[in-house]
Amino acid sequence: MDAIVLLKEDHKTVEKLFKEFEKAGDRAHATKRRIADRVIEELTVHAVIEEEVFYPAAREAAPGTADHVLESVEEHHVVVWTLAELAGLDPHDERFDAKMTVLMENVRHHVEEEERDWFPEVRKAMGRNRLLELGERLEAAKETATRDPLKVPSAAK
Ligand SMILES: [Fe+2]
Ligand SMILES: [Fe+2]
Repeated sequence: MDAIVLLKEDHKTVEKLFKEFEKAGDRAHATKRRIADRVIEELTVHAVIEEEVFYPAAREAAPGTADHVLESVEEHHVVVWTLAELAGLDPHDERFDAKMTVLMENVRHHVEEEERDWFPEVRKAMGRNRLLELGERLEAAKETATRDPLKVPSAAK
């Protein structure tokens, strides 16, 4: 699969989980825990494959995107720390829903910037064959990616 199509599919999967979370009732603690755990795993793996495979390749193919890439890494940094906090937070805690809401705001903003502001430039610079080859590398990286948000590269800095 084309690398950008693959990443957008991930974005859609996460958005679906966000909508499920928003629809869950105030007292649906077990459901919200389950959804949050899936969000944590999806976003951790997604951040790893972007940071280790897609972002460096994008920057190399389209040097004009460098500032966007750097900003995206800083946004990942905030997101993965929030994921780590959510992993250890009781869904009954009064801060749980608020933390999830801020996560969703941050991720929606981040995804919009990726898809609108700089993925199109990468698509243009790379062309179809390179995107297909990169998609395969992303797929393979998913298999081995950590599931621990604090082991995502951007968590460290
Ligand atoms: Fe990202
Ligand atoms: Fe992304």
